[in-house]
Amino acid sequence: MRMIFIGPPGAGKGTQAARLVDHFKIPHISTGDMFRAAVQAGTPMGVEADRYMKAGRLVPDEVVIGMVRERLAAPDTAPGFMLDGFPRTRPQAEALAEALAADGRALDAVLLLEVPDALIVERIVGRRTDPETGAIYHLTFSPPPAAVAARLIHRKDDTEEAVRARLDAYHNQTAPVVPFYEGVGLLRRVNGVGDPDGVTAAIRAALA
Ligand code: AP5
Ligand code: MG
Repeated sequence: MRMIFIGPPGAGKGTQAARLVDHFKIPHISTGDMFRAAVQAGTPMGVEADRYMKAGRLVPDEVVIGMVRERLAAPDTAPGFMLDGFPRTRPQAEALAEALAADGRALDAVLLLEVPDALIVERIVGRRTDPETGAIYHLTFSPPPAAVAARLIHRKDDTEEAVRARLDAYHNQTAPVVPFYEGVGLLRRVNGVGDPDGVTAAIRAALA
């Protein structure tokens, strides 16, 4: 199964992707997580990406495309993959199509997780992540167990100001990817509003 998750910041891509990859036994490839790991490791790419991420802006296409091409060449993607947060621009979508075609691989589905802007800020500002397990929580909607509460982190780009910039980037640069996949019949729209189990059920139905 080769899948893509598109959706605004805080739509629940990471939350739902974690569930899907368990079910399909495929790797979860989140470009945001890859950049955060590079920032943590202090690599040159991490230093460059950090400047854009902190401001809520997209990392330049050539950096992202190179990183994803390399990741998709790894043998663990043979049974498929779940791309989360890539592609995010038209040139990224075109580069992905080219890279997959060159390997004789094709996408099975593109899931668009739809959540209105009005709900996004609250989801993002309350998010907390476990650096040891990668688990995603929310102070109100998905409270963390007391045992892990002390080690949870709040992402640097999860401020209200950065979220506004991320939403602008989504509407201006990522939204044009939607008609690209709609045109080739791969797009599946899923309502991302409601409790996470309900959203998972809607995704399963969209994939059936
Ligand atoms: P990235 O890490 O991809 O961030 P994002 O797209 O802004 O999305 P998020 O990870 O913030 O949200 P999510 O949809 O995963 O939601 P989650 O499940 O965590 O990218 C970060 C940055 O990296 C970008 O801004 C850019 O700079 C750079 N970058 C990455 N990829 C790039 C690319 N391709 N090109 C260029 N630059 C790139 O959920 C959010 C919260 O809501 C959590 O607290 C969760 O518990 C809660 N929640 C989840 N589901 C529900 C629900 N159903 N109801 C209530 N609460 C819920
Ligand atoms: Mg995410």
